[in-house]
Amino acid sequence: MIDLTCIYSWLLLLPTKVDDTSPLIQYAPAGVWGDSSHSDPFWQSYSNGTFHPTNYTGATATLTFNGSAVYLYGAFRGNHDQYSVTLDGTTTVKNGYSNGEKFQQLMFSATNLNNVQHQLVLKNTYTTTGPSWVDVDYILVTSGDGDAT
Ligand SMILES: *[C@@H]1O[C@H](CO)[C@@H](O)[C@H](O)[C@H]1NC(C)=O
Ligand SMILES: *[C@@H]1O[C@H](CO)[C@@H](O)[C@H](O)[C@H]1NC(C)=O
Ligand SMILES: *[C@@H]1O[C@H](CO)[C@@H](O)[C@H](O)[C@H]1NC(C)=O
Repeated sequence: MIDLTCIYSWLLLLPTKVDDTSPLIQYAPAGVWGDSSHSDPFWQSYSNGTFHPTNYTGATATLTFNGSAVYLYGAFRGNHDQYSVTLDGTTTVKNGYSNGEKFQQLMFSATNLNNVQHQLVLKNTYTTTGPSWVDVDYILVTSGDGDAT
């Protein structure tokens, strides 16, 4: 006898991939985010060959999601610098600079969230003299808490 309840809760724990091209991600302000430019020689290193980059200070990418965990992936590159991630109003500051190109890197994660609606905001907060970049490759969302009730 198969325990369907168990299978159901396992399915809920499978992460959903929100690619950078998804309309669920809101990019702001208008006109400062790129979309998968093939003039970037490394475009194929991004998941599915797509990415949203910006070098505009204060530019944001926002995802509102229901879930218990979230994982943000993007590149760490030589022309990247500081960025912040704000989850439900709590801000974490990180740095995406890398001496050598690294793709599909975990930029931020949060687990053990209440399985309700949350808001994730990525912001370019570079501190370099010239503009530095941040990009979104994809976001994984885990929608269940493993508890089938
Ligand atoms: C991957 O890219 C192709 C086009 O190149 C698109 O049709 C497809 O929907 C994309 N897959 C995902 C998971 O975004
Ligand atoms: C960002 O990069 C583009 C070229 O891709 C450039 O034209 C622009 O001046 C740069 N700086 C800012 C602040 O957007
Ligand atoms: C989250 O779930 C609530 C309740 O089902 C729903 O009203 C809301 O639209 C959902 N939010 C998203 C971003 O899917």
